[in-house]
Amino acid sequence: MCGIVGYIGGKQAAPVILDGLSKLEYRGYDSAGIAVFGGEGINYKKSTGRLKVLENLTRGGADMPGCCGIGHTRWATHGVPSNENAHPHFNQKETISVVHNGIIENYLQLKKFLEKKGYVFVSETDTEVLAHLLDYYYKGNPMEAIFRMLRRVEGSYALGILFAEHPDTLFAARKDSPLIVGQNEEGCFIASDVPAILKYTRRVTYVDNQEIVKLHASHMHFYNIDEEEIRKEPVLIDWDENAAEKAGYEHFMLKEMYEQPKTVTATISPRIQKGDIRIEELDMSDEELAAVKKIHIVACGSAYHAGVTGKYVIERLSRIPVEVDLASEFRYRDPILEEGAMVIVISQSGETADTLAALREAKKRGFRILGIVNVVGSSIAREADNVLYTWAGPEIAVATTKAYTAQLVALYLLAMKLAKVKGTLGKEEFEHLLGCLERLPYQIERLLNTKEQIQKFANRYLAAKDIFFIGRGIDYAISLEGSLKLKEISYIHSEAYAAGELKHGTISLIEEGTLVTAVSTQPELYQKMISNIVEVRARGAFVMAVTGEDNREIGKAADYVIYIPETAPVFANSLAIIPLQLFGYYVAVGRGCDVDKPRNLAKSVTVE
Ligand code: AGP
Repeated sequence: MCGIVGYIGGKQAAPVILDGLSKLEYRGYDSAGIAVFGGEGINYKKSTGRLKVLENLTRGGADMPGCCGIGHTRWATHGVPSNENAHPHFNQKETISVVHNGIIENYLQLKKFLEKKGYVFVSETDTEVLAHLLDYYYKGNPMEAIFRMLRRVEGSYALGILFAEHPDTLFAARKDSPLIVGQNEEGCFIASDVPAILKYTRRVTYVDNQEIVKLHASHMHFYNIDEEEIRKEPVLIDWDENAAEKAGYEHFMLKEMYEQPKTVTATISPRIQKGDIRIEELDMSDEELAAVKKIHIVACGSAYHAGVTGKYVIERLSRIPVEVDLASEFRYRDPILEEGAMVIVISQSGETADTLAALREAKKRGFRILGIVNVVGSSIAREADNVLYTWAGPEIAVATTKAYTAQLVALYLLAMKLAKVKGTLGKEEFEHLLGCLERLPYQIERLLNTKEQIQKFANRYLAAKDIFFIGRGIDYAISLEGSLKLKEISYIHSEAYAAGELKHGTISLIEEGTLVTAVSTQPELYQKMISNIVEVRARGAFVMAVTGEDNREIGKAADYVIYIPETAPVFANSLAIIPLQLFGYYVAVGRGCDVDKPRNLAKSVTVE
């Protein structure tokens, strides 16, 4: 996810663009760039790192005079963060400039086509293809070049485009990536999202798919992909500026929870092709995958919890033994790593010191490292031998939600791939699981819509002292994550326990009214979990159960039941976590905690 901004009007463009980009840094912030029509042609500056670097480089835009320009803040997808890969991208003559948010899915074919025509590429990005393709089609009419270019492009885009021979015009186009345009008495604007231009105008027009916009200083024209001019109505935005960065949500955490259907889809879709799972990033043949005898998963915090789920899923599907380690333990326990083992490190930020150290420890012993990482070009991504990216986009809230659920589905894909090549997963079951996997985003969306019910229940526990989460097997893994979500943002003490283990001591802590959350999504363990619920209720606990829709018995045992839609038991964590995320969130909100920036925590723990 990246941020784009453009302006054309009576003011200096660079300060407007930089200001707009600063409101979009939540969309991506590993590099940035700006292009402005100057005296002779298009001037531009690019930089890696936060937007501040570009602001300093251009003295807040003062060094880039001109009244029409485009800018970009990047969340790397194709190509690591670097000046070459930062946007805007250009044709060789630097007479056409493009900023892009989205993914050009057929960029490799287009790149090959253009290279055959003699075009030379300077970046690793998909976006650069667009600049050269525009050059290929440009014969003096920018709109004609744009229409022809768009007809060849597959994938998603929100574009800002400049043509040096047309300094009085800014062009924009959109398919699947968000784009808005706005106007006030000082000019016209384009942006990826409302926050970028809210300061200048509250009247915005949402550009729809395959629409093209031609903007001048005092007016704009809209076209569809058939080159017909169309009329569009602006809407009035009534959000305040601060809320707008959160797209109207009260907190980034809630916004990111609601992004999960999209980010789970973004993580699985590119890896499901023609009814099969293809994880090219593994860079391992089916034979090499089938030869994997042992897997070590190493991570911290929620990433570790994803690894615990991964253990259950990979072992159940592929029968490959999996060992999961806390990175801070792994790096000092002189681990025993067998020949032929696969080592997987999981990290949202890709900068967690303990996880990076664990990666280096395993690498030092000669093991190939697979990273499951969210931030492209991060330290762990760069030092791993192969990276399976979770396309969750920038995660701002300290408490992870969308990156965690993206890690889960990345592990499901790996488990299914391993099981398939090892022959432990038959064709029918594979297809059934694939269907369940593809249904998860819709089911997550359904569960997110129960937020009012969860909020009402959460408000009964704002003064709680201790809250327990119990589960068996894969439900123990999700209890770990549910417990961490609650305690790290609400500051209420909480523990996750293997339900069968509670009676070996900890059950002594259960008092009258203690809330116990029992997660029971595995049909073969329903009865066992009902016994555990009866056990804790006998000691005064109030039990909230999270269970499958087919579990009709549990309603007689638990005090409050949240049902999750039917899915394959191995994928149930992806659904059970949604009410637990919402529960933790609303308890924290009810207690007036700083949900997005909890005390004592950091988004990335880059120290030991
Ligand atoms: C999760 O909500 C926490 N913020 C924390 O446990 C986090 O998962 C952990 O620090 C690991 O971070 P990473 O995924 O960026 O490596």
